[in-house]
Amino acid sequence: MDIQKLIQEYKLQSEIPKKIQKLREIINICDHYYYVKDESLISDREYDQLFQELIQLEKEHPELVTPDSPTQRVSGEPLKEFRNVQHKKPMLSLSNTYSYDEVKDFDRRVRELLEGEKVEYFAELKFDGVAISVHYENLEYALAVTRGDGVTGDDVTLNVKTIKNLPLKVKEVQFDGIPIRNFEVRGEVYMNYADFVKVNEERVAEGDKPFANPRNLASGTLKLLDPRQVAQRPLRIVLYYLDVDGIELRSQSENIELMREMGLPVSPYSRLCKSLDDVFAFIEEWEKRRYSLPFQIDGIVIKVNSLRQQEKLGTIARAPRWAIAYKYEAEKATTILKNITLQVGRTGIVTPVAELEPVFLAGSTISRATLHNADYIEELDLRIGDTVYVEKGGEVIPKVTGVVLEKRPDWAKKFVFPEYCTCGLNGRLVRLPGEVAYFCIHPECPWQIRRRIEHFASRNAMDIEGMGEKVVDQLVNLGFLKNIASIYELHLHRQKLISLERWGEKKVDNLLEAIEKSKRKPLSRLIFALGIRLIGEGAAKILAKHFKSLDALMNASKEELTSIYEIGEKMAESIVKFFQDPKERQVIEKLREYGLNFQEKEEQSEQKILEGLTFVLTGELEHFTRTEAKAKIEQLGGKVASSVSKKTNYVVVGKNPGSKYEDAQKLGVPILYESDFLRLIGEGSESELKKENHFEQNTLFD
Ligand code: IVH
Repeated sequence: MDIQKLIQEYKLQSEIPKKIQKLREIINICDHYYYVKDESLISDREYDQLFQELIQLEKEHPELVTPDSPTQRVSGEPLKEFRNVQHKKPMLSLSNTYSYDEVKDFDRRVRELLEGEKVEYFAELKFDGVAISVHYENLEYALAVTRGDGVTGDDVTLNVKTIKNLPLKVKEVQFDGIPIRNFEVRGEVYMNYADFVKVNEERVAEGDKPFANPRNLASGTLKLLDPRQVAQRPLRIVLYYLDVDGIELRSQSENIELMREMGLPVSPYSRLCKSLDDVFAFIEEWEKRRYSLPFQIDGIVIKVNSLRQQEKLGTIARAPRWAIAYKYEAEKATTILKNITLQVGRTGIVTPVAELEPVFLAGSTISRATLHNADYIEELDLRIGDTVYVEKGGEVIPKVTGVVLEKRPDWAKKFVFPEYCTCGLNGRLVRLPGEVAYFCIHPECPWQIRRRIEHFASRNAMDIEGMGEKVVDQLVNLGFLKNIASIYELHLHRQKLISLERWGEKKVDNLLEAIEKSKRKPLSRLIFALGIRLIGEGAAKILAKHFKSLDALMNASKEELTSIYEIGEKMAESIVKFFQDPKERQVIEKLREYGLNFQEKEEQSEQKILEGLTFVLTGELEHFTRTEAKAKIEQLGGKVASSVSKKTNYVVVGKNPGSKYEDAQKLGVPILYESDFLRLIGEGSESELKKENHFEQNTLFD
């Protein structure tokens, strides 16, 4: 995919409707690669810029906005309630099996009912999400409906529209020569573990109850009435069913291919199985491989591949006779709960943690597991000394899911949530009305200080290498670090640090250098690093872009903040509260004094002076080889084409030029001789040029 070519075409295009069309095409392609193929075609920055340009163009030309524009993924006002929609064909569920014997029974029944016909199965992963039906009309996204009771569901069209890996327009493909334009697809809305963990962390920081698993989160999100909130949650979709108006399709495997060709997201992990043994091999393979997936599956779905045979087999009750689910056991282990400790986060939130007898589970040894909050401990009726079940919420965060009551020892002790924090300062732990979490309210709680400093120095924030958890812990204990600003005073203690055990000159100097370097990080990182409640990386970038300086952000009112589309009420309140705190202000003034970058720097524009220009090279140049000249042009944002057309901006002509010189003259394309070209790229000075080495034979460009 030559995305740069499309970008050039967009830039050279002067007609607005065509420009908009090109931009949409580029963004859709980038989205498809990013969300479906897991590949980035352009940098985030470039993407954001193009997206902003599209927003701007559509703002200036509202008559050109179409519902399938990528800017329209989030649209409409919050709903009061969802409209009910009847499914064209009922949405069925699957019978579950848990053993190979049951699968064999299924196969036997299928073969009996098909009276000995040859049978092929299509094996798919069973995604642990929420079933959804999506309709396309004239190739365009038109409607999305939840499963509901199988007969009617909720119209969640605006919510599903925000899901980035679902195209709003599909490619037209043909089935036996007939174009597919109006059709229904069905599949699963789900969320990756990593995104699930992130959303939960944010919720906990906010004092909200975390979701138990990615499926609950996906289903809770689809039920939100405000599409803007949905857009904040990175949902994904995978499709496994196709039904086309007026066309009799042949098989599940062909349908998956058709959907893939249309550009719809389908699973790359399905397999056509010629025999039951192939099916078992698939089940076995995924029993282990499932832990390497970025999302949760709870089994395998086995479907009779031929749609004619599916019809012949039919449906009983609400499950088809032509498919079953084989469910994997949730990876579970039992171990002893030795103790419950408290972990204090950077916002003072206190999370109880189960300290466990180490146990091996789904690929790793676990000795700690989250208990979320006091209510969770209460619900499970956990006692210290209990034998407990631990499960991996997928394979990311282990959690305690239950108690083996028969194994409870007499001495098992109920856990009483402490009144005071373990911070040594005896900060009171309070539970604000309506919130599930406890907070340590001591302003100098060293745990919070540690977490805030760790967060400040972390990779996605100020990225201070060598300042991880252990180092922060040590430096806080030694009294060298008291707040984030004191990081920049560490150089005053250089000698003392060098004399510490396991430190030494090199390690200290590396750390000090990394600290120095962090002063020049972009404003968005600094905003994120400050650790303002509810302000993640994404919000920090938006704020930096909008306010351009930390001072402007510090002085912003709640109204000004909420006027930014992506900044909600709660976020705005949190920002205002943060900057009103005199202690935070003091720290920020220190950071300013130490020379941290408080301004949003524009990308150096002079570096991209050839942006949007296409060059053609012909003849021998004195100062460059072909590769060098091309690299130079591209470095400055330009593009080199191999032949001259009307779209060529300049033809650079060296000695003994080829036919391209004449082409340029014929088409009236401006010609640059080497000296003009050097002037254009700002390298006109003779002396500068002589400094460069030109050992390589100059190549003929033509
Ligand atoms: S086929 C009759 N295929 O599992 C056909 N379902 O327990 C039913 N699911 O409601 C759907 N992955 O939400 C099918 N590859 C897959 C699936 C899948 C997940 C879900 C779906 C369905 C539920 C049934």
